[in-house]
Amino acid sequence: MTTERAPRARRGPGGHNEVVDEDPAATLHRLTKHGTYDSERAERLVRFHPLDPTNRPAPFRRWIGPAVEPLPVTEVPMGPRAVDVLSGKTGPERDALDVEALARLLFLAGGVTRTLHRGGEGPTYFRAAMSAGNLHPVEAYVVAGDVRGLDPGVHHFAPLEVGLTSLRAGDHRGVLRVAAAEPRVANAPATIVLTGLPWRTGWKYGERGWRHLYWDAGTMLANLLVAADALGIRARVLLGFVDRLVEGLVGADGSSELALALVVLGCGESGDAGTAAVEPGAPGPLEVEAEPLARAPIEFPLATAAQVAGALGRPDEVEAWRDLGSTLGRPADAELVPPGGGSDETIDAVIRRRGSTRVMRHETAPRELLTWGVSAGARPVPGDWARPDRTLLEHDVSVHAVEDFTPGAYRFQAGGEFEQLRTGDRATTREVASRLCLDQPLGGDSVFTAFHAAELEPILDTLGSRGYRAAQLEAGVAAGRLALAAFALGAGATGLTFYDDAVSAFFRTTAAPMLVTAVGFPDYRSAPGGPPRRPVELGHYDDLMHRLSVGLQRARRA
Ligand SMILES: Cc1cc2nc3c(=O)[nH]c(=O)nc-3n(C[C@H](O)[C@H](O)[C@H](O)COP(=O)(O)O)c2cc1C
Repeated sequence: MTTERAPRARRGPGGHNEVVDEDPAATLHRLTKHGTYDSERAERLVRFHPLDPTNRPAPFRRWIGPAVEPLPVTEVPMGPRAVDVLSGKTGPERDALDVEALARLLFLAGGVTRTLHRGGEGPTYFRAAMSAGNLHPVEAYVVAGDVRGLDPGVHHFAPLEVGLTSLRAGDHRGVLRVAAAEPRVANAPATIVLTGLPWRTGWKYGERGWRHLYWDAGTMLANLLVAADALGIRARVLLGFVDRLVEGLVGADGSSELALALVVLGCGESGDAGTAAVEPGAPGPLEVEAEPLARAPIEFPLATAAQVAGALGRPDEVEAWRDLGSTLGRPADAELVPPGGGSDETIDAVIRRRGSTRVMRHETAPRELLTWGVSAGARPVPGDWARPDRTLLEHDVSVHAVEDFTPGAYRFQAGGEFEQLRTGDRATTREVASRLCLDQPLGGDSVFTAFHAAELEPILDTLGSRGYRAAQLEAGVAAGRLALAAFALGAGATGLTFYDDAVSAFFRTTAAPMLVTAVGFPDYRSAPGGPPRRPVELGHYDDLMHRLSVGLQRARRA
């Protein structure tokens, strides 16, 4: 992309054939909305057989040759209370990063916590963060330079084994420093690189799966950032980087695997590490090969185009892109007053207890679940696409059963206020919310359902397709944090999908919904997930899914 003003959608009078210079991310967004259908989709979206069992993507990336080395894991509680960390209170900063803390971050962001064995099929794995369709298209790599107990190098994280596979030896932080145009990257002990495998989610969702890469990176980041805060690690998310350099470093090809985000782990930063100059174009190819993801992964040209359109080619473009973001967004509160009723549970316990709520019972929630929960989800993300106290999102909420709130539609405001947009009787409000969430009962059985939305026009105008990535990623973080906040207060939550334009119309907003979180009380008991390398076997999952699907069919018939 160029860092000048990105092209805007202009539709000619004759319809879709005359859409000119529309940003490719805007095109993908428009053509992957639920609830609208036209001939342009039929022409431009790839026809394929979703969920083809013969072309199923492998759940884990495996390398041919090098072994996974298990990371050292500890079960010592993490210190601060989850409700404090989710309120923005960070632990004392560490003076160094050690491999145990790194292992914890990686496990809490993306490790396997639960399994399900069904006769005749391979196991299903559930991880610490939620993921649409449980497909987990995001991979994590560590570029380590100065981590106690870990050799400098580029390592790939194995979520099941909770271990690392070494892909390159040596200190490669200088490559990231150039790629991110950010001297701090060379001094931070390690940076986590998140990449996305479009086919792992495209297998079910087609082109809409490109949105999922950023949502799911966001839910992982919600966990990772909160765990880093608890551990005294100052983590910062960078979306501005030279894609080609970062992808080259981790062996991603830029089409079947895409660089999504860098997470710089700052603590005890040494002043002189990794500062060697690196020519753009370095490094060489990986000498290690990954096993194929599937029999014949299908590429979705619209998704590739949306990603490529946002690519940054040089460090000076990265700097210019980052500067543009300083004008965007709305204020967000970084520090909150923790809720009165929170328990002493630590964040690792809350993350292990989290599992998407599959059936919700009707019950009235205390007001803090709404007021603090949404505020915790809406805290600014420490990133480089907007100013530190700003967010690209607005949060519109359908409230069904919360103390002191009349059922209806509300808009969350910084400062913790909820502006009332419309009220209704409880049954109708529930029914409308369920309909907006693709007719899924969970959207209305919740005590409230939050629609995380973004004004795409100024974002695309200012930051281009890469800004669209930022908005989707922020929505994933908001959903992930809100889910953790709900669990910390003894409730449950799930991400949900939605009818795009119907949501904007209902909330009378020009913002487009990015992702939805339903918060409510599970109508069943579930065991916490297990610690690293000891996932808990899920009981009654198929019964729950049966209840979910009966409810869904009933809602769609009504
Ligand atoms: C972006 C996103 C969208 C989701 N959409 C839905 C949905 O529409 N309906 C639903 O029941 N669950 C939805 N989920 C929840 C996933 O199905 C759930 O995370 C996944 O099955 C893994 O289970 P777990 O969260 O218990 O680990 C969504 C999750 C995410 C992150």
